[in-house]
Amino acid sequence: MSNLIVLGAQWGDEGKGKVVDLLADRFDVVARYQGGHNAGHTIYIGEQKFVLKLIPGGILRPNTEVVIGNGVVIDLAALIEEIEKLEESGIDVRNRLRVSNRAHVIFPFHRLIEKMSEARENRIPIGTTSRGIGPCYEDKTGRRGIRVADLMDAENFRMLYDILAADKQILAATFHLDEPVNYAEIREKTEEYAQRIRPLVCDTAAFLHEAMARGKRILFEGAQGTMLDIDHGTYPFVTSSSAAAGGACTGTGVPPTKIDGIAGVSKAYITRVGSGPFPSESKDAAGDLLRREGNEFGAVTGRPRRCGWFDVPLLRYTAMVNGFDTLVITKLDVLDHLEQIPVCIGYRLCGKELKEMPATYRELEAIQPIYKALPGWLAPTRGISRFEDLPSAARDYLRFLEESTGVEIGGVSIGPERNETIIRTGTKLQRLI
Ligand code: IMP
Repeated sequence: MSNLIVLGAQWGDEGKGKVVDLLADRFDVVARYQGGHNAGHTIYIGEQKFVLKLIPGGILRPNTEVVIGNGVVIDLAALIEEIEKLEESGIDVRNRLRVSNRAHVIFPFHRLIEKMSEARENRIPIGTTSRGIGPCYEDKTGRRGIRVADLMDAENFRMLYDILAADKQILAATFHLDEPVNYAEIREKTEEYAQRIRPLVCDTAAFLHEAMARGKRILFEGAQGTMLDIDHGTYPFVTSSSAAAGGACTGTGVPPTKIDGIAGVSKAYITRVGSGPFPSESKDAAGDLLRREGNEFGAVTGRPRRCGWFDVPLLRYTAMVNGFDTLVITKLDVLDHLEQIPVCIGYRLCGKELKEMPATYRELEAIQPIYKALPGWLAPTRGISRFEDLPSAARDYLRFLEESTGVEIGGVSIGPERNETIIRTGTKLQRLI
């Protein structure tokens, strides 16, 4: 038995979807542990493009079962739409997807509240995906949220819903939010959706434990990335869930003692969507080139991603809080045309070199990155299937990242297709999958 967590080592969009899809056929179950439909995984299989938001990447592998864990927040309309789209493409979802009865439900008024709080004067705008994620998690930690299990009992749901709706109306009136909300209609729709997802709902922690008892292997899929984690990220410019590795346990009910390995996914450079500090951001033509070559536009919102250079102190920090055993470096091919590749190797603040990641966004914004320029390889990497066959400057670049971050590079992705990934022989990654 070997259970593996795969998660983002930067600010999300590292290419986890592709990595999870690639590894999924070696695991029996893929479980999502946090976030909601703010995540967007784009997976290319031949001519077909799939964008998964809530359903784990394993769904595209016919023998893999998938779980939406208790740490996820679910917009039922989005979930049903995603199931229908996949089924239209001939993928069997209903017999392979299980939804946690303890996951919290996002309602349309959560989106509205988010809009309101983002627009409030004197508030730091986070640049969220506007999916109602934060307000839903607020209700969860405020102990007034509604969980999937509550929907299964109509009377209980009505009682809880009416209390929550009354709360939201007070909030809307207090903040002079004039957008009309039809609370009765939302309740009715939710009841209808609840009936549709009922066959998928179960105690997913019990399901996962039973699977493990039968010797099944589980892959835990993180959404967003460590720097967007509510505790360890660039607060307050973060998402509202535990995206770091610890979230895999709280978000599924599988204890840390059952985790055998942790794989971080990182781009060969770095991107960020939304606002917030970004020490190695490249705001010039080089950043535009990365955006163009890497097609760096959000999978969910279509927003252009901010682009910059690989950040060693950031990766060392995310390796520390997650305990990465191995790294998969994605989009190496995007750097194929660069003569020189800057890498951020240190942070300076007020003239002093930093040893630790600053906790406040103001300090993070004031950081002066220290760069080292590495030679590019000016040769195509797509189509290469062995690490040894990569251009020597590309291997040197990867070895530099490996040595400076202290984490082995177990895999390298050099194109969007499933087969465009190199798993290095003799690595921990190879042993864990
Ligand atoms: P929220 O998750 O919608 O609350 O947004 C909070 C922050 O996380 C914003 O900066 C978003 O752009 C960012 N974010 C949320 N989900 C993703 C993702 O899947 N990839 C990259 N950034 C994300």
